[in-house]
Amino acid sequence: MYFIFGVSFSAPRLFKWVGGHLRFHVQLSVECNTKEQQQQIGLISMATKIISGTRFSSLPASYIRGESDRPNLSQVDVLDNIPLIDLSCEDRSLVIDQIGRACRDYGFFQVINHGVSKEAVNRILATSHEFFGLSVEDKMKLYSDDPSRTMRLSSSFNVSKETVHNWRDYLRLHCYPLDRYVPEWPTAPSSFKEVVSGYCREIRELGLRLEEAISESLGLEKECLKKILGGEEQGQHMALNYYPACPEPELTYGLPAHTDPNAVTILLQDMEVAGLQILNGGKWLAVKPHPDAFVINIGDQIQAVSNGKYKSVWHRAVVNAHKPRLSVASFLVPSDAARIRAPAALGGNTYKDFTYAEYYKTFWSRDLDQKHCLEFFKN
Ligand code: OGA
Ligand code: NI
Repeated sequence: MYFIFGVSFSAPRLFKWVGGHLRFHVQLSVECNTKEQQQQIGLISMATKIISGTRFSSLPASYIRGESDRPNLSQVDVLDNIPLIDLSCEDRSLVIDQIGRACRDYGFFQVINHGVSKEAVNRILATSHEFFGLSVEDKMKLYSDDPSRTMRLSSSFNVSKETVHNWRDYLRLHCYPLDRYVPEWPTAPSSFKEVVSGYCREIRELGLRLEEAISESLGLEKECLKKILGGEEQGQHMALNYYPACPEPELTYGLPAHTDPNAVTILLQDMEVAGLQILNGGKWLAVKPHPDAFVINIGDQIQAVSNGKYKSVWHRAVVNAHKPRLSVASFLVPSDAARIRAPAALGGNTYKDFTYAEYYKTFWSRDLDQKHCLEFFKN
């Protein structure tokens, strides 16, 4: 644990204009020059790349949003009724109907009795907590801000492109095929590879089942959506998101409003700390964590394949003053070569044909909360 703005350094107080307010800003003095002090400074500049494991007494200026761009948490309603769909229900046409309605009304739904074991869920939560609890030095060995890396620990979203940072660290992993990617995964905690790969296998099954149901809910053949996205070649990525307790949650985001670039997202939310909010009818709604459910959302690729019938909905993660929050996001992604286009049965072509590789590059070349990435691909 390093105290960035702590007492062991002389810290001249500066004032800075942020969002129309004169804001207290702390800067480290670099006048100390003993070897030990230099080492500490080295650790501090390193620590500023990730935020987990460092105690902040105030929000650093680079995380503060302008006044018109803040979460306004008091105006957010808590959503109890995000559709909760029981996948074990024997009436398949009912399930498909519920999924179709949820996709049209919210772009989001929750699933229970989804086939992913409680054990896999509990183990990945525990392992993720252990991972983010490693020392800053250990975590920094995995740090990269290069989005093309298939395994990296990073912070915020796109540190080199964005103007304001987000209060999040994340470990991003490619995870399909597992035997190709697992060798490059973290070796600490020691159970990491086994626990995370077990979880990935179970999640993939669920993701492919959901694609079948979503396909049917669009009036397409069960296999149709999957085939367009690359069938068994579809990729799978994962983000272990860690949002440390934040000294000033009203001034920043864990993740600002964004849509997911992939096909389907399966989110395991922290059971205790809420944070996911979705945009519905122009209003932000908080999704209350459900202990047995995954939160599913439609990504940009399904919006494209459905010719806009289903929307990849804006969502965001807000942070908490007292508790850290963890989420595990799994993404089914089209294979790189998949040509994304709506089948003729779904009418005209709102979007250009593109490959997922082209799309993904565009997604990561920008800041997260700019316009919907699909806008770049409109006909
Ligand atoms: C994401 C995401 C939300 C959350 O990782 O894309 O939207 O609650 N996460 O962490
Ligand atoms: Ni998202």
